[in-house]
Amino acid sequence: MKLVVKNLNRIYEKDGYKTHALTNVSINIQDGDQVMITGESGSGKSTLLNIIGLLDRGYEGEYLIAGRNAKDYSHKEQARMRNNMFGYIFQEYALLESETVFDNVKVPLLYSNVEKQKYREHIVESLTQVGLDNLMGKKVKYLSGGERQRVAIARALVNKPRVILADEPTGSLDRKNRELVLDIIYSYLDNTKMLIFVTHDLENNRKGTQRLFQINRGQLEEM
Ligand SMILES: Nc1ncnc2c1ncn2[C@@H]1O[C@H](COP(=O)(O)OP(=O)(O)OP(=O)(O)O)[C@@H](O)[C@H]1O
Ligand SMILES: [Mg+2]
Repeated sequence: MKLVVKNLNRIYEKDGYKTHALTNVSINIQDGDQVMITGESGSGKSTLLNIIGLLDRGYEGEYLIAGRNAKDYSHKEQARMRNNMFGYIFQEYALLESETVFDNVKVPLLYSNVEKQKYREHIVESLTQVGLDNLMGKKVKYLSGGERQRVAIARALVNKPRVILADEPTGSLDRKNRELVLDIIYSYLDNTKMLIFVTHDLENNRKGTQRLFQINRGQLEEM
């Protein structure tokens, strides 16, 4: 599968303010690619990731998923892709605070093709990957920051997405938890998966051979 972004522009207009968040951004990503995008705060990293993850359609230009314009997929197909094809690992974890670890990881399964009897097996597998199978029954509000981030990752991986979208996934973690989270993300990948990882801190987040990009005031360049 390929993701093709061509001459993408994103302009935000708020209270008479115009922000040109992305300017003529182009990038091709295919199976097996590990893409790291770095740039200063406000350079457009999250904006680009949100568009690629079908969370924002207010752009101009082309975004093709498997050869077809993203905007031409039906709402149902887009919802299915958000749930099954993309795994989102974002800085604000957006977990259900009063629910257990188990129930948080279950959420994406509710909208998948996985049979109900198989839920438990998938949840346990995903939580084992992040080393949290021992905390399944604990409520999220009682977890540490590092544990929360790992619950968010287990939730992102439970449907085995082909595309991992990571937005500063280690931003609020100490060194040990950062290494743990990076190991989990990188060991999930293989030549059928894609990673798009944005961070202002390239040095502490890169691993192995990756395609490196820099974004400056909305303009993307391969490094
Ligand atoms: N919903 C929005 N409405 C108006 N302007 C926005 C909106 N979201 C982002 N922007 C603006 O677009 C620009 C790019 O923002 P973006 O969030 O993509 O940056 P970023 O590279 O992810 O920064 P950070 O590293 O701080 O997360 C910024 O100038 C920001 O103020
Ligand atoms: Mg951001």
